[in-house]
Amino acid sequence: MADISVEYVGLKLSSPVVAAPAGTTGTVDLAKVAEDSGVGAVVMRTLYPAQTQETSLPHYELIKHNLGTMKSTTLYSTEHAALADPNRYAEELRKCKEHVRIPIIASLGCSDTAAWPEYVKLLAQAGADAVELHVHCPDAGRQVAAGFVEEMAEVLPAIKSSVGIPLIPKMTPQLENPALAAKALETAGADAVVMFNRFTGLEIDIDREEPVGGRGYAWHGGPWSIFYSLRWISAAAPMLNIPIAGCGGVASAEDVVKYILAGATVAQSCTAIMTQGYHVVKSLNQGLIEWMDRKGYERLEDFRGKVIGKV
Ligand SMILES: Cc1cc2nc3c(=O)[nH]c(=O)nc-3n(C[C@H](O)[C@H](O)[C@H](O)COP(=O)(O)O)c2cc1C
Repeated sequence: MADISVEYVGLKLSSPVVAAPAGTTGTVDLAKVAEDSGVGAVVMRTLYPAQTQETSLPHYELIKHNLGTMKSTTLYSTEHAALADPNRYAEELRKCKEHVRIPIIASLGCSDTAAWPEYVKLLAQAGADAVELHVHCPDAGRQVAAGFVEEMAEVLPAIKSSVGIPLIPKMTPQLENPALAAKALETAGADAVVMFNRFTGLEIDIDREEPVGGRGYAWHGGPWSIFYSLRWISAAAPMLNIPIAGCGGVASAEDVVKYILAGATVAQSCTAIMTQGYHVVKSLNQGLIEWMDRKGYERLEDFRGKVIGKV
C-alpha cells in the first residue's frame, strides 16, 4: 500500500491533508476530532491580538449560482476573532499539544508590524510546532495585498532572531505575481508558504439593497478556487527551495493529487471540512492511496511536481 506520510517544515505528517485554519480548528476538542479524521496536521484558527472582542457575528452563506441548469457554489463568510485574547489562545494551544499527537501549527495576524515577534514568541513558548503568519484579513477594510511582501520581509528576520520555530506566511491570492512574491518571502527567511487564502468579495442582498452578512466585504472560496492556486503553485514550485502548502478548493482525493502534481508538499482544506464534516478527510486519504496504488507510486515524492514541466 502506498505511503502518504510526508515531511513538512521538519515536521513528520502521516498525511499531506492539513486542516486549514477556521472555526473548525480553534480548540483542543476540534483538534482531537481532526486528529481522529486522519489529517496530517492542524492549523489553529488565527489569533488577532489587536481585536479584543467579536467585532460582528459570524456569517456563513453557501451561494449558489445558476448557469442554466448547471449549479456552482461559493462559501461566502465572515468569522471574526473569537479567540482574540493571546493568553487564552496560548492556553488552548498548550492543551492541544498535551492531548493531540499530530503537529499543531498556530496562526497569527498582527496589524502592527512591530508586534509580530512578541506574539510569535508567546506561541512558540506554548508549544506551537510552527506559525502561519497571516496578513490577509485582520479586518475587511485593510488593503489586503498592499505591502504584504514588504511587511513580511521586515517581519521575518526580526522574528527569526528571537524564535527558532518554522515560520510560514499565508499568502493572499490578490497579488500581481504570486510566484515572485513567494520567492521574495523565501529570501526573507520563510520556511514555507501557503498558497493561498481566500479572495475578498462582496455579495449583495438585492431585496434589502445592502451587503450580505454585515456591513463589510467578506471572503469567498470553495472548489472553484483550486485552478488559480494550481496555476501559481506550478509557477512558483520550480523557483523555490522551501515547501508550498497548497490551499483552496480541496474537496476530493483528486484535488490532493492535483496539488502534489503541481508541486505542493501538503494540501490544506477548509470549506470541504466545514460543509461536509471532518469525515471527508478519510475519503481524501483513502482516495489518494488508491490513486497511488493504481499508478504504482510508493511515496508522494514519486509524483510531486510531475506536471510542472508540461505547462
Ligand atoms: C469560515 C472561515 C474562516 C476562516 N478563518 C481563517 C482564519 O482564521 N485564518 C486563516 O488563515 N484562514 C482562515 N480561513 C481561510 C481558510 O483557512 C482557507 O485558506 C480558505 O478557506 C481556502 O480553502 P478552502 O477552499 O478549502 O476553503 C477561513 C475560511 C473560512 C471559510
